[in-house]
Amino acid sequence: MTAKNMIQLVIGSQWGDEGKGKIVDMMAKKADFVVRFHGGNNAGHTVVINGKKFPFHLIPSGILQKKPIVIIEAGTVIDPEVLMEEMEIFSKMRINLKKKLMISPRCHLIMPYHKELDQAYENARGKNKLGTTKRGIGPAYADKVSYNGIRIYELLNWSLFVEKFKFQTEIKNKILVAFGVAPIKVEKYLPTFKKLAERISPMVGDTFAVLHKAIKQKKQVLFEGAHGVMLDNSFGLYPFVTASNVIEGGVNIGSGVPSNKIDEIWGIVKAYTSRVGGGPLPTELFDKTAEGIRERGYEYGTTTGRPRRVGWLDLPAVKYACELSSINRIAITKIDILSGLSSIKACVGYKLNGKKIEFSQCGYLELSKLTPIYKTLPGWSQDISKIKSFKKLPVNCQKYVRFIEKYLDVKIKIVSVSPEREASIFV
Ligand code: IMP
Repeated sequence: MTAKNMIQLVIGSQWGDEGKGKIVDMMAKKADFVVRFHGGNNAGHTVVINGKKFPFHLIPSGILQKKPIVIIEAGTVIDPEVLMEEMEIFSKMRINLKKKLMISPRCHLIMPYHKELDQAYENARGKNKLGTTKRGIGPAYADKVSYNGIRIYELLNWSLFVEKFKFQTEIKNKILVAFGVAPIKVEKYLPTFKKLAERISPMVGDTFAVLHKAIKQKKQVLFEGAHGVMLDNSFGLYPFVTASNVIEGGVNIGSGVPSNKIDEIWGIVKAYTSRVGGGPLPTELFDKTAEGIRERGYEYGTTTGRPRRVGWLDLPAVKYACELSSINRIAITKIDILSGLSSIKACVGYKLNGKKIEFSQCGYLELSKLTPIYKTLPGWSQDISKIKSFKKLPVNCQKYVRFIEKYLDVKIKIVSVSPEREASIFV
């Protein structure tokens, strides 16, 4: 599929849940390193192997492949309980984590008060809640930016960690109490953190040196993006975003590898739109078609289990993502979910007050009021989940793919037709 010695990046080009886990898992087969560089356990990836689902949130999807070493890099935030749980799962699968997993000491920790604060802020927002995953992501990044964070680095210097944990908890408890939430007791959590420190210390190392050496030696490195571009903290639909930088530049910020080292930037595009959480979604559907897509596509959050909102493919939004992140290859996912629809719509532009408006001109106020302009394409009825070549796909399915490619002006290289690891067509 790919030439040797590539630096590759996989980015979600919509609102997350584009099916990145499967594509990353597939690409990871040849990779020497798979790197996560932002976000935390708000992300969820599912890899399906022989019908068995492997949902995980923190450890890079490449862990299930034999070859790569997986790295959790500096820009990622780590919830100790989640990391311990995932490590337990992979240890039971006889994956040697000491050999397979590396963690940067620069990663920040999601502390117990971050989760409480996330929940408290959401409750306080009432009907204006953002729909966060309540995993403490926003408060953890806020502490990082305001120099109040605690990192793996401190965790491995135990007395320093305890001191910082106590100090931060004292401050955060004042806020929690003001919200009417019970204060956090540091002692309750110390054993978990102690266990984590002991468990991960052999895996924490100079990931910067490892990655830069790998690049010099022309190893294959795969950067696994989390979430989707519309959730980028700066260029997404703020405030309905996540706390990290999802766009291509996030690689440099989150891993220390300059983005001009990247050869291939893969945008993952789901054949329709979905999102969890609040905020405008111009092409959202509320009818039977939506129900059908949700059920067939199992559109329920990997992290929270919430039903995802679904709609037609929003091409202006995806084009914006392509431009923002220099996406130069596309993988279309879940196109099989559209099988059986007599016609399929794709949004090709927007109108606001009778005038055309670009995606980049829209904040959430505009997006919630505009009218999408649709192109209607004929559907197909066959089950396509076993098809192995592009030419064997129903003609209307091929036409839909080519239509997307032409609009985005980026080559579509993979069409995924079922969740199974091997079910991908190379175009
Ligand atoms: P947070 O990242 O938990 O703070 O949530 C902020 C927003 O991002 C919410 O709308 C979440 O539903 C959304 N979000 C965060 N991570 C993902 C993801 O991996 N997939 C889809 N939505 C996500």
